[in-house]
Order: sequence, then C-alpha cells, then structure tokens
Amino acid sequence: MNEARSDFLIIGSGIAGLSFALKAAETGTVTIITKKARAESNTNYAQGGIAAVVAPDDSSDLHIRDTLNAGVGLCHRDAVEVLVREGAQRLMELQQIGVEFTTINGRLDLGREGGHSRNRIVHAKDRSGWEVERALLHAIASHKNITVFENHLAIDLITEHQLGRPIDEVIHCWGAYALDVDRNEVKTFLSPIVVLCSGGAGQVYLHTTNPAIATGDGVAMAYRAGAKIANMEFIQFHPTTLYNSGSPAFLISEAVRGFGGILRTKRGEEFMSRYDERGALAPRDIVARAIDTELKKSGDEYAWLDLRHLPPSSVKEHFPHIYETCISRYKLDITSEPIPVVPAAHYSCGGIVTDLFANTSIENLYACGEVAMTGVHGANRLASNSLLEAMVFAHRAFVDADRRLRSRRPEIPSVPSWDETDTFDAEEWVLI
Ligand code: SIN
Repeated sequence: MNEARSDFLIIGSGIAGLSFALKAAETGTVTIITKKARAESNTNYAQGGIAAVVAPDDSSDLHIRDTLNAGVGLCHRDAVEVLVREGAQRLMELQQIGVEFTTINGRLDLGREGGHSRNRIVHAKDRSGWEVERALLHAIASHKNITVFENHLAIDLITEHQLGRPIDEVIHCWGAYALDVDRNEVKTFLSPIVVLCSGGAGQVYLHTTNPAIATGDGVAMAYRAGAKIANMEFIQFHPTTLYNSGSPAFLISEAVRGFGGILRTKRGEEFMSRYDERGALAPRDIVARAIDTELKKSGDEYAWLDLRHLPPSSVKEHFPHIYETCISRYKLDITSEPIPVVPAAHYSCGGIVTDLFANTSIENLYACGEVAMTGVHGANRLASNSLLEAMVFAHRAFVDADRRLRSRRPEIPSVPSWDETDTFDAEEWVLI
C-alpha cells in the first residue's frame, strides 16, 4: 500500500501530536507518522514538568508576567495570555487520561524553576515527560480510529508544488510524502488536515539535550513548502547538562536548582548572585551566559552544581532518575560529589509562524509544539512552558481543524506518487 488517507494526518508523536490525535479521533480517522519508535520524542526526555497556575498564592497575571520577562520583550502577549489562562484546563485533561503527577497529602507537588516567581511546576518526580508520553501512548493504543506508522520519516509536504500547479498567494497542503525506513520506499499520506508536531532541532548542535530525532525536519519541510518561519536564531541553551556525557548531553533538571542546588566555580565560589538577584533561579539565558562567562574567564571546562548541603534522602526521593543515571552511567554520587555541568542546546524558541489556533501561513497546515512559533517564548522560553504550549495549542488546533472540516472540508486533488528523479546528486553526496 503506497497511499493512505485519513481525516487528520499528524507528523510527530510527542505531547502535541498525541494530544491532538486523542481529540481528533473522536470525530474522524487519524494517521500519525513518526520517524522512529512512537515514544521517541523530546517529550519523553523532559524532566522538569508543566508550568500551571494551580497554587492558591499564584495567579495567571504572575505567570504571564514571568513568561514575558523571560522572553526579553519579544513574546506576543495575546499568545502568552492564551497559554497561561488555558493551561490548567489542559492539565486536568492529562490527569483524566491517567498521567500520575507527584502529589503531597493529596495535592499536586509544585516545584520551582528559573524565572518563576511562584512554585508552579507540576511534575512526575524528575521524569515528567516520560510519564505524560506513557499515558498518552496508552490512551491512543486502544483507539480504533488512530493508526500509527513508526519508522516513517516525513520528507516533503504535499502542496501545489508537487502538482505542478502555479503557486499564487495561498498555498494549500494536502498531506506528506514519508519514507518507510524499513521498506525503503516513499509513501503518500493524504489528508484535508495536516498537523506538524515534529519537535525541535537540537541535533544541529554538537552538544544538545535533545534526542537523535530532533533534527529540525518539520521546519525544513515547511520552509521548502513556503511557510513563514521566524525567530530561528533564538536557540535556548539549558544551563546545566552533565559535563562530558557525550551526545545527547544528560540533562540535570532546572528543578534541581529550584530545590536548592548551588552553582559554583571549580574553586568553590558561588557566582550567580554576582549576575542576577534571582541567583541560580534567574531565567535560563542569564544563567547559561553567566556559566559561559565564568568558564571563559577561568579557562575551566565546567562549573559545579552542588547539592551536598541537601539531605541525601530527599535528593534521591525528588530526583530518582537523575540520581540513578549519574550513579550507574557516570559513577557520580550527586548527594556527596558536586556535579560538573556545562550549558547545551536545548530548545528552539522560533519555528513555523502560527496564529492563536496553530494555523500556519499554508492552508490546512497546522503546527504545534516546539516546531511552531506561536509567540509565547519570545527570545527565551520560561522553564516548563514547553509541554504547556504543546498541549494548549494542540487543543486549539483541533478546535479550528474540526470547525474547518465541518464548514468547508478541503478537497484533496489527485496527487502523484513520489518521483525520485533527480533526487540523487552524486557531487553533493561526495561533499556530504
Ligand atoms: C528541565 O527539567 O530543566 C527542563 C524543563 C524545560 O525544558 O522546561
């Protein structure tokens, strides 16, 4: 079978794609294509959690202010308002499908991360993304309307270009060509609604927290198809990844600093208070630049993240994944030894430009999650706003797509099979 049709085509299987799929499957057939195994997404590796206004001492206005401050004046206020005001509702939906967040005495345990003026990080210990992905995959597994194609690498969006039609002002999308990696053949996936949820581009950098799948192909496909792209220069560097852990760099969650971890030079000096009154809990761009400055001044290869003053049992209790990984993989006991850390590429704040309902500049094409530029992150994303953005805008994308299908369902023209003539350039291959 070289052609598949469905009411919704989703590219990517992280929180954005899967949460969209669950809603869409209530109204029509859904195809998800994903380039590796279905759980292999950035979502799966997120440690910190989801920022949401649930505490009595918190308010939407405070979360909005913190997000705007972190974004250094470049966030779109209307998008930030949507993000924050709709977040709690989406969080409840995750709980309803079985995501088990960490609680204390029956209430959500709220962690703290850089740039937040309140404790508002809802988490599942230090494997929040893994828990969200687990529950979403479990929920879609039993849905008869959802078909997942693993090891299918989307290679091009289908627009007027493939039809040989002239492209006027409005470009339309009707699906995507994808390489079935196991069979080494290109298939045609057609749909009146295409949702790009293919994540970020961390692998463009040598040192990144992102898994191997994060190669930016979603932005590249949309760019080739003529979509508007913006803010790609705003790559966020996470301040604390384990030094020398190879690629991908092992993340030491910002929640560890929120829990009291202190950043020190190799000589033991606490330095963040010299850079910002919020110390190690300043937004990420400030902390990453401070570490970089200290390393350049001293010639050191890393800084220390020191947890030795914290009770070992509570470090193990709150960060079991980080503790176990450091012990078993790196022979490092984070309760009794300082952690050597360096910044690494973590998140693309820019991407495919969307409106408040995740519409891109191409008709019938939506973008959600890290691949999108909704305007909420500006020049620097506030910690734990990423999973939040993905689920808030995936929901809005579904609302809009559903409306579109009901009011004027886009017609899919006759689309040719993938033509690989001239796709191999021997000279270019030599260069690669
Ligand atoms: C972290 O746990 O530090 C990462 C969370 C995020 O990227 O927001």
